[in-house]
Amino acid sequence: MEKKIAILPGDGIGREVVEAAAQVLKQIEASFDHSFTFEYADIGGGAVDDYDDPLPAHTLDICKRSDAILLGAVGGPAWDHLPGEKRPEKGLLRIRKELGLFANLRPVRSFKSLLHSSPLREEVIDGVDVMIVRELTGGLYFGEPRERRTIDGEEAAVDTLVYKKSEIRRIVQQAFEIARLRTQKVISVDKANVLESSRLWRETAEETAKDYPDVELEHMLVDNAAMQIMYDPKKLDVIVTENMFGDILSDEASMLTGSLGMLPSASMGSEKPALYEPVHGSAPDIAGQGTANPLATIASSAMMLKYSFGLQRESDVVEEAIEQVLSEGLLPADLSRDKTSAASTEEVTKAVCTHIARLAGK
Ligand code: NAD
Ligand code: IPM
Ligand code: MN
Repeated sequence: MEKKIAILPGDGIGREVVEAAAQVLKQIEASFDHSFTFEYADIGGGAVDDYDDPLPAHTLDICKRSDAILLGAVGGPAWDHLPGEKRPEKGLLRIRKELGLFANLRPVRSFKSLLHSSPLREEVIDGVDVMIVRELTGGLYFGEPRERRTIDGEEAAVDTLVYKKSEIRRIVQQAFEIARLRTQKVISVDKANVLESSRLWRETAEETAKDYPDVELEHMLVDNAAMQIMYDPKKLDVIVTENMFGDILSDEASMLTGSLGMLPSASMGSEKPALYEPVHGSAPDIAGQGTANPLATIASSAMMLKYSFGLQRESDVVEEAIEQVLSEGLLPADLSRDKTSAASTEEVTKAVCTHIARLAGK
């Protein structure tokens, strides 16, 4: 199979983990006789430095011409003083919006060999399998106006939380479709006791549910959901929620796996291409040390193989290789009790590639 993959490393550990995932994709290419072309492009802080724009036009062109996009992470202290439009994070928000990537799938599964890495008790997390379906192109992140203004004679700031019914319906539909392939249960998370947008969200979820009589719909307030994720995560399956709640709940849920460095994601819309990226950020505190956990990004490339290219077996092989590496105890620092003997990004990546070659028979 021939595919064009746009690679957007971004900033900080984004560069390190994307390089790791690119190596894994090259191993898949070799082991399964595919032909992947990688085209690198700038996004984030590096693009601000070089082009004065966190999402230069040439990057968007490359992405639009590709079959799938792999992204690392953007941002860092060097750019924190910039105005909103010029910030690295704005590049990420714009690419999501420009490509219409409204559905962000964030799977959270516990690994047997990592049960000891989580701050939570083993019996709480053993067997966790949650899919967070986060709305990605609406809500507080995009609503207008967003501005500084004077209110009652003092400096104030305004952000706007807007959702159109059509935006709610399409993401809830996506969650129901996913639930049909899982345990036929959807929990819609909102703040309907306070927010008008959440009341529309809840009503729309109810309406949409009529088209899916085989799937059970439950509503949960977001503060309770944050608690339930820690208290009894095995009761949860598909969670659908708005942009900001999904952002926060997914970082929280990463602790069910042991580290934020384990969570992959896929962002898709109604047209191609989809974008794959780890849930974590550019981790300036560990950038440049070669110690970042590459598994979230490698697992994101497994999602790419499955969702964008229909390569189920190849995707399974990547996931199995990840499991093998973990069960051998080859753990990066974020998962390791003994930080001094932890495996480097490169060691983990090489081990994943070796297992892929073995599982594929070449
Ligand atoms: P972060 O996710 O970068 O890091 C949070 C903590 O988790 C840090 O201690 C970090 O070292 C650790 N961590 C994250 N990923 C890891 C990995 N793969 N291996 C080992 N440890 C890992 O969040 P932050 O520190 O709040 O934000 C840093 C910068 O990243 C900010 O500029 C923020 O805007 C940006 N950010 C970008 C994205 C993205 O590009 N998708 C996501 C989140 C944050
Ligand atoms: C994420 C990140 C982004 C978000 C930021 C960097 C804009 O935290 O992908 O989770 O909030 O969506
Ligand atoms: Mn986030």
